[in-house]
Amino acid sequence: MEISKLLCKNLREKPETRRASRKLGNRDINKLIRMGLNENVWGVSPKALRAMKETAELGNYYQDWTQKEIKGAISEHYDVPTDFIVTGCGSSSLTDALGTAFLEEGDEVLLCMPTFPAIIDTAQMNGATPVIVNMKEDLKYDMDALLAAITDKTKMVYICNPNNPTGTYVRHEVLLDFAKKCPDHVIQVYDEAYIEFAEASDCIEMVGAMKELPEKPIVLLKTFSKFYAMAGIRMGYVLAQPEIIEWLSKCGTQFATSKVSQAGAAAAIKDTEHCTYVKEQNAIWRKYLTDELIKLGCDVYDSQTNFVFFHPHVDPGAVAEKMADRGIMISAQAGANRVSVGKPEHCKLFIQYLKEIIEELQ
Ligand SMILES: Cc1ncc(COP(=O)(O)O)c(C=O)c1O
Repeated sequence: MEISKLLCKNLREKPETRRASRKLGNRDINKLIRMGLNENVWGVSPKALRAMKETAELGNYYQDWTQKEIKGAISEHYDVPTDFIVTGCGSSSLTDALGTAFLEEGDEVLLCMPTFPAIIDTAQMNGATPVIVNMKEDLKYDMDALLAAITDKTKMVYICNPNNPTGTYVRHEVLLDFAKKCPDHVIQVYDEAYIEFAEASDCIEMVGAMKELPEKPIVLLKTFSKFYAMAGIRMGYVLAQPEIIEWLSKCGTQFATSKVSQAGAAAAIKDTEHCTYVKEQNAIWRKYLTDELIKLGCDVYDSQTNFVFFHPHVDPGAVAEKMADRGIMISAQAGANRVSVGKPEHCKLFIQYLKEIIEELQ
């Protein structure tokens, strides 16, 4: 039997997934210094670790599928009622749920490139068409172009703020203006995976807009993978008006998260001491990477995240390859390289290797 003949049309016709960081060749990911996936090297909150260990001992019992503790913790953190929250196995699974709930053939999903491409997969898996608007030359969002590209067919617009892979952000007042002008038939998805790392005073979460503009279908994608250093634990959530949450809750989310991830995330979001430590360390080493890359003659984009995007002025693919040969995984995409903030000794090693590699390739 040819299984491919049994596939549904959308999967059969779907182009290859676009995630750049998967291009590792035969290399063993566990043997590389990982500065290619925007993981958080400052570690899981000690309080979250304790909560997860304790909860794991009760792993023979099903989790609380009403998710009282984790929803309670998120609700308190953002001052939103719990019916504004749905959790999932990382925010990627909630992007999928958005597709299942809202996208179908004939719909268009608007996005700016380069960005995190999961939304493209989601659109295609549901028969919708991704429509791409280019970023401006400085690799910032072109919100006017995005607004102008909206048609009757546009079902969803995806905005990653701050953006992966560029690290750049849209000023809050510009986003607010867009949110108000965006027609009501368009679901506005704001992916805020990295926003907790942001230091610019006008790089702000859209939770206020989501609460204050109830007539607009505004969806915030949030994750514990980045700032809370729980990428492997798999916990993400959506903040949106209750009607949207109700539909997303019917798309495979209710039993998706484990009792371990729920307990860990609830403890992590409350651990303000660890959050402060992560934010400070990230800022110090992001600045180190930025400064050293500039000294090496690279063009560097100002980042509000835990990674830095740069043009090395030599072939970025070759840079990533040679870096992986030396044991460090970084990413090459959109004609440039992206390096995640690593442990201090790894940041220094990366800069040392990059100097050698640029000289080799020049
Ligand atoms: C912008 C953005 N959104 C979402 C994700 C995925 O997050 P999660 O681990 O919660 O699925 C990533 C991961 O790299 C990302 O860069």
